[in-house]
Amino acid sequence: MSLAERLRAAQDDTQSALDVALAPFDGPVGDAMRYASAGGKRLRAFLVLEASALFDVPRARALRAAAAIEAVHAYSLIHDDLPCMDDDDLRRGRPTVHRRWDEATAVLAGDALQTCAFELLAGVETDPDPAIRAELVLTLAQAAGAAGMVRGQALDIAAETAAEPLDLHAITELQRLKTGRLLEWPCRASAILGRADPAPLLAYARHLGLAFQIVDDLLDVEGDAAAMGKAAGKDAEAGKATFVSLLGVAEARARADALVTDAEGALLPFGDRAASLISVARYVVDRDR
Ligand code: IPE
Ligand code: IPE
Ligand code: MG
Ligand code: MG
Ligand code: MG
Repeated sequence: MSLAERLRAAQDDTQSALDVALAPFDGPVGDAMRYASAGGKRLRAFLVLEASALFDVPRARALRAAAAIEAVHAYSLIHDDLPCMDDDDLRRGRPTVHRRWDEATAVLAGDALQTCAFELLAGVETDPDPAIRAELVLTLAQAAGAAGMVRGQALDIAAETAAEPLDLHAITELQRLKTGRLLEWPCRASAILGRADPAPLLAYARHLGLAFQIVDDLLDVEGDAAAMGKAAGKDAEAGKATFVSLLGVAEARARADALVTDAEGALLPFGDRAASLISVARYVVDRDR
């Protein structure tokens, strides 16, 4: 299968898993949860599915973790778009949740997508061993919480009004938390489900996560809003600290390319079996959305 076919399979199967998980939720909050969790590249789900395949984890189990991380990601985007955060009107080519409904519905749909993720992981279908399920819950809480993604988002907002611009070290730390932790978790979860050593995959994920956010920042400068399905030019407008604001476009692009090479190198222990993870790293830096 080509990368495009594998990505499509991850998108379709994750959507089916989310359809089932979100079916019980009704009213505007349930509708907003379905709306916000639809679409997207499903990169995090793809990472769960492909990394789990390295360890022969049954796909139905990996899909529970894939749906869980996409639910947390969708929650993070709903809240990221709120007027008190990035104040965005468009996401995945559609009005943001607070635009389509209202701010209260957006806050609540985000909250409920987050708890839904933990409900998925804790369910017995995710793995028969309760210790494995607890480990998945624990690590996702750590990745998403106040020492993880939330901390990165707080640093990102604080940097907008900081007296001094952040240096390279501080920006790297911010991005490692803001975006890196939710991109790393799929690799960690796959090793947990596969009862395997997470080290090589975590090294891959760290390089990939940084490359991913550099490209997100490059797209904000150079990208086409219609292709991206979200506004461009927002970071400079808000005075955000990004790799591009610090290094410029050319140097940021060079760093993203170098990180792909590093990511590929981390997968050498897996040989040809990691081909899809290698090709998705290239996709991450060449993407236009
Ligand atoms: C966007 O993530 C938000 C960041 C972490 C920079 P994605 O680019 O993965 O968004 P979707 O899921 O494809 O819409
Ligand atoms: C958002 O980063 C990251 C999270 C939601 C955790 P950005 O603010 O750069 O994402 P976009 O550009 O709005 O997708
Ligand atoms: Mg933001
Ligand atoms: Mg944003
Ligand atoms: Mg961005």
